[in-house]
Amino acid sequence: MIRLSHISKTYHRGKDVIKAVDDVSLEIKDGEIYGVIGFSGAGKSTLVRCINLLERPDKGGKVEIDGEDVTLWPDRKLRELRSGIGMIFQHFSLMPSRTALENVLYPLRWRGIPKPRQLERARELLKLVELSDRENNYPRELSGGQKQRVAIARALANEPKVLLCDEATSALDPTTTGEILQLLKKLNSDLGITIVVITHQLNVVKDICSRVAVMEHGKLVEEGDVFRVFSNPRNEVTRRFISAATPLSKAEQMASLPGVLHLQPGEKFVRLTYTGPGVSEPLISAASNRFMITMNILFADVDLVEGAPIGGTVGIISGESARIEEALDYMRQKNVKVEVLANG
Ligand SMILES: Nc1ncnc2c1ncn2[C@@H]1O[C@H](COP(=O)(O)OP(=O)(O)OP(=O)(O)O)[C@@H](O)[C@H]1O
Ligand SMILES: [Mg+2]
Repeated sequence: MIRLSHISKTYHRGKDVIKAVDDVSLEIKDGEIYGVIGFSGAGKSTLVRCINLLERPDKGGKVEIDGEDVTLWPDRKLRELRSGIGMIFQHFSLMPSRTALENVLYPLRWRGIPKPRQLERARELLKLVELSDRENNYPRELSGGQKQRVAIARALANEPKVLLCDEATSALDPTTTGEILQLLKKLNSDLGITIVVITHQLNVVKDICSRVAVMEHGKLVEEGDVFRVFSNPRNEVTRRFISAATPLSKAEQMASLPGVLHLQPGEKFVRLTYTGPGVSEPLISAASNRFMITMNILFADVDLVEGAPIGGTVGIISGESARIEEALDYMRQKNVKVEVLANG
């Protein structure tokens, strides 16, 4: 659906040259939810703005939408391009002096559709985002989540094939974020719309994306299936992202602070990380029974990514030392990454 080839974007500010995007190539398939993640300033917004040519990429870059090289299109065709690609933003960008219904009607005005049909269509869209009862409210009378629903309805007015979401949930609380993500997921599966999600929130990617690109300093540093990227990150930036979002990364700190862990001789302080599908909590009790060890779990963090568990457990193992080794080997065989962070 979207193919970006060698996209760069350079800004000139006086003498300064800023390479916001640096030679990025990627492909987004029809009907998928694709995530672009990176720390602030990584170039995510600039990259997606190149998709609908809100930014023109530097020479040599090519943007193909549904097989068409739109970088060759003249400026007068850009409205057509942008009506096929909806976009939503962190701060909703609604027109404050128009009601929810009028905001959704606005993009329909250009299309030569009879007025009554426009109205009907706008109401259908508000129904789709479950906001029918708020059609006469002004943006200031709506909550953040409701405003984003209006913005989504408006973005869908022209029946786009692609929806670009630039930090669409960053201004929302976790519950509302979850609701908006579920709505996006529903639109993706019911309407088959291809969705590109830009975010610095790892959970957004975990919850709804099937593939993800990680950006840093304008470059694409890692790309792949979400499960693969989270379970086996290849790039340092990706690892930093993941460890910032999970308490499991605090284990090193615990191990290095004197007096936090009171390990008895023979005990081991371990972190078990699930790195492949098919692992789950019962493994620990299975190992405990089988090798007569005990695992005192200090904390755990397990998430489901595309239906498979990902995450891990941190705790103290005690038992006979040979049996502890056997238990750890057993877990390694079951696809668990075992790290011994301290020995008693
Ligand atoms: N119009 C512009 N003129 C000059 N520099 C710009 C312009 N737009 C973006 N930049 C610079 O390009 C770089 C990438 O910006 P961009 O907004 O794409 O990052 P981002 O990954 O979306 O960040 P955030 O997570 O904070 O939204 C930044 O260094 C930014 O200052
Ligand atoms: Mg941005």
